[in-house]
Amino acid sequence: MLLKDSWKQKGYVDEPIPEGTNLKEEIRRMAREKNAVIMAHYYTDGEVQDLADFVGDSLALAQKAAQTDADIIVMCGVHFMGETNKILCPNKKVLVPDLNATCSLAESCNAEDFSKFVADHPGHTVISYVNTTAATKAVTDVVVTSGNARQIVESFPKDEKIIFGPDQNLGGYINSITGRQMLLWNGACHVHEKFSLEKILALKQEHPEAKILVHPECKGPVVKIADKVGSTAVLLKFAIENEATVFIVATESGILHEMQKRCPQKTFIPAPPNDSTCACNECNYMKLITLQKVYNCLKYEWPTVEVDPQIAERALVPIKRMLEISERLGL
Ligand code: 13P
Ligand code: SF4
Repeated sequence: MLLKDSWKQKGYVDEPIPEGTNLKEEIRRMAREKNAVIMAHYYTDGEVQDLADFVGDSLALAQKAAQTDADIIVMCGVHFMGETNKILCPNKKVLVPDLNATCSLAESCNAEDFSKFVADHPGHTVISYVNTTAATKAVTDVVVTSGNARQIVESFPKDEKIIFGPDQNLGGYINSITGRQMLLWNGACHVHEKFSLEKILALKQEHPEAKILVHPECKGPVVKIADKVGSTAVLLKFAIENEATVFIVATESGILHEMQKRCPQKTFIPAPPNDSTCACNECNYMKLITLQKVYNCLKYEWPTVEVDPQIAERALVPIKRMLEISERLGL
């Protein structure tokens, strides 16, 4: 297939789609014909989630990729998720519909600088959040997600010296609930850092019966007022199972789609950010994934996610370790 310069420049296929195309039907037809599985993260647009074969948090997406027998994985999410899939399935074609869908947290941890940090602190076990590039994972002992970070940290002896990167908020939260003193890299997610404590407290005053759901990438003071802290899947489960009928949700607002779908009779209020009048907080990278780009990427089988084989070989070790520990712990 000839890669057009305009595609390479843009980072996605920009071919016009014939008028009258039923995008959802055509994507499903191509997926069947090409034996492709479409996976989506909870932060993508609702219509992308509805189209996917599987929607999940970072842990579930990695677990699913490790098991799939599809020939092509279309990862509707950000680039590090595609990389994780490619590392787990080197012989499969992994597509991410737009290469510009990166992650501010992964980018806050350059592999070279992180390696220096690790070298400056010998004798430490290196734990990295899954929101990292493959190169950063390659200098890591075990990967975690927000769905298993606590349990994986606790699987090490209490006096284990640990470096945790790159999210200082998640790391600080895990330190606070485990009593550990992990050394933290000072990265953060630009979406989760922005939630306004004041605005959440004001919403709580308006809805005193509401439960507050918080992702651990949020800053400490927001995490402190939570009724439940957890990964997107953990927050979703809590919303489904808890008897409360109103929830204030402090994570990327895409998760509200599945919450509302699973609990049509409950009310979900997105927590607002502090820097605008917007009512909700979106990840601009996740929102780059549109149905048009999914259609084009499946049709032209580009952009593919490529990982340097030497880096992939090293990064596979801590990812596999995470999956093994998670399986052993029933996560
Ligand atoms: P989850 O693993 O909780 O889905 O989070 C992924 C993420 O990017 C959070 O910002
Ligand atoms: Fe990365 Fe933050 Fe977007 Fe999650 S919400 S993908 S951590 S930038």
